Amino acid sequence: MKNYKVYPLFDITIEKGEGNYVYDTDGEKYLDFYGGHAVISIGHSHPTYVKALTEQVSKIGFYSNSVVIPQQEELSEKLGKLSGYEDYNLFLCNSGAEANENALKLASFQNGRRKVIAFKNGFHGRTSLAVAATDNPKIQAAVNFTDNIQLFELGDLEGVKDALAAKDVACVIIEGIQGIGGINDPGAEFLEGLEEACRATDTVFILDEVQSGYGRTGKFFAHQYANIQPDIITIAKGMGNGFPIGGVVITPKFEASFGQLGTTFGGNHLACAAGNAVLDVIKDEDLMTNATEIGDYILSELEGVSAIKSARGKGLLLGLVFDEPVKELRGELLKKYKIFTGAATDPKVLRLLPPMTVTKADADILINAIKELV
Ligand SMILES: Cc1ncc(COP(=O)(O)O)c(C=O)c1O
Repeated sequence: MKNYKVYPLFDITIEKGEGNYVYDTDGEKYLDFYGGHAVISIGHSHPTYVKALTEQVSKIGFYSNSVVIPQQEELSEKLGKLSGYEDYNLFLCNSGAEANENALKLASFQNGRRKVIAFKNGFHGRTSLAVAATDNPKIQAAVNFTDNIQLFELGDLEGVKDALAAKDVACVIIEGIQGIGGINDPGAEFLEGLEEACRATDTVFILDEVQSGYGRTGKFFAHQYANIQPDIITIAKGMGNGFPIGGVVITPKFEASFGQLGTTFGGNHLACAAGNAVLDVIKDEDLMTNATEIGDYILSELEGVSAIKSARGKGLLLGLVFDEPVKELRGELLKKYKIFTGAATDPKVLRLLPPMTVTKADADILINAIKELV
């Protein structure tokens, strides 16, 4: 059997990771300013994380969720405290796509409606919402297989309000800050307007924080820069630092009932061990403060670089907008300077999503490399 190839690969084989660096099979060292699609929140092979997973797997890695798994309670308690959503409930699953599918279902169960409003350049995983994060019409046609989704421009509050007026939309879903679509911040005012419009029409308000959450922007969730409290928040990526885990954070207004949602792997012992270790490290090492400080440092050091037209995002979820496509620049950063960075669907945006443990010294390596190349 061969692998079914649906994404391009760098010709690099990573065999080891340590902190903010990874090493290939030739022993070459790379600075990770991509964090594997924003997944590496606490750095590669963090000792607390390694210990937690090793100890857990030496006892038990998995048993079905038909038994009590105390690590789940520990996780929801820690997550509630660190995120400020102590009165919300947590449903554990395995990925961002799964979290969003469950969120859509919950919304529809809640108000009996089937339509969804989402935003252009948004991305919610390869779900029934996988609509907007590409300009390629072939891919759009292939993934947009439901007619129940209406897309709006970020900022088009009047458009959304008009669409909600008929009171037949189940939910509005929006990223805290759009990730792959180019690091686009919806802004506090727009988010607050959306929340109000949802409340007025009994529409469920969902924040997809799969990429923008878990402390990366300097607050636990990117939407916490606005004065809102969504009904549902979806999480994954940084939650397990590489161990697959996702979650749906649910308002106490929604009542759980047996059979409403389900999962085989969600909330297993190992996933919870990973999730708990991540939350401990984010808290103990004050990584949200670090995300803000290093993010601000990068932006201030790159100010005045004429090839950079603008900068988007917050903390360590950054998009540098160049005056031309960044494909070549990314290639040079990787080949010459051994630095991984990310791309967006907007070809002029260089996406930076390093581990939240990056230091000023790491940032300087990236900053100097960019300055030398442009
Ligand atoms: C905002 C957002 N939501 C959902 C997803 C899907 O997550 P997963 O790949 O874990 O299914 C992604 C993945 O890139 C994402 O960026």
